Amino acid sequence: MLLVAIYGSPRKNGNTDLMTDSFVEGALSEAKIELEKIYIRDLAISGCVACGYCDKHGVCAQKDDMQSAYPLLEKAERIVIASPIYFYGISGQAKLFVDRSQALFMRKLKNRSEGRPVASPGARKGFFLCAGATKGKRLFDCPVLTARYFFDAIDVDYTGELCFRELDEKGAVLSHPSALEECRKQGAAFVR
Ligand SMILES: Cc1cc2nc3c(=O)[nH]c(=O)nc-3n(C[C@H](O)[C@H](O)[C@H](O)COP(=O)(O)O)c2cc1C
Repeated sequence: MLLVAIYGSPRKNGNTDLMTDSFVEGALSEAKIELEKIYIRDLAISGCVACGYCDKHGVCAQKDDMQSAYPLLEKAERIVIASPIYFYGISGQAKLFVDRSQALFMRKLKNRSEGRPVASPGARKGFFLCAGATKGKRLFDCPVLTARYFFDAIDVDYTGELCFRELDEKGAVLSHPSALEECRKQGAAFVR
């Protein structure tokens, strides 16, 4: 089983990095898995330019680092994506990555319309991790919707999320009473 872990914060070793590490640790303790980590902050990627190339060809015309991520997103049986809250959404870096998955969405539609097989339902699962500084009741509404539709676009079943409020300083999650343990547990359950 291939697990792809996507780190969406520009802050190295920040809260969502630590949450993702714990999630991955839980997964590795549970099953024999192949692991690929994608640190979006290390990729040189541009935003989708809506050129329409993928509508016709099912691939993205932009030849940047996103090209190395596409095969992993297509092959993975498990994908976890993490992002901090930025202005009630995901980080700009993570949003660029998500927008560029449009090429895989268009390929899915193209495969369907041309009668080619797409991943069987339930075969691929996705999970979302998020951290934000404030307490707002609706703090995670927008990023959770984005994560849901990201997974839907790439033909992955959304299985859930772990979102933690009141985490601001780098490493604040280390002082949270249960967050990292919850991430570990969910990571294990995710590959079971
Ligand atoms: C540009 C920017 C925008 C942010 N916007 C919000 C916000 O709208 N709401 C919130 O609760 N926290 C916001 N935060 C705080 C981060 O979500 C918080 O510090 C989070 O724990 C960072 O996670 P990380 O360490 O994984 O990067 C923002 C931080 C930055 C740098």
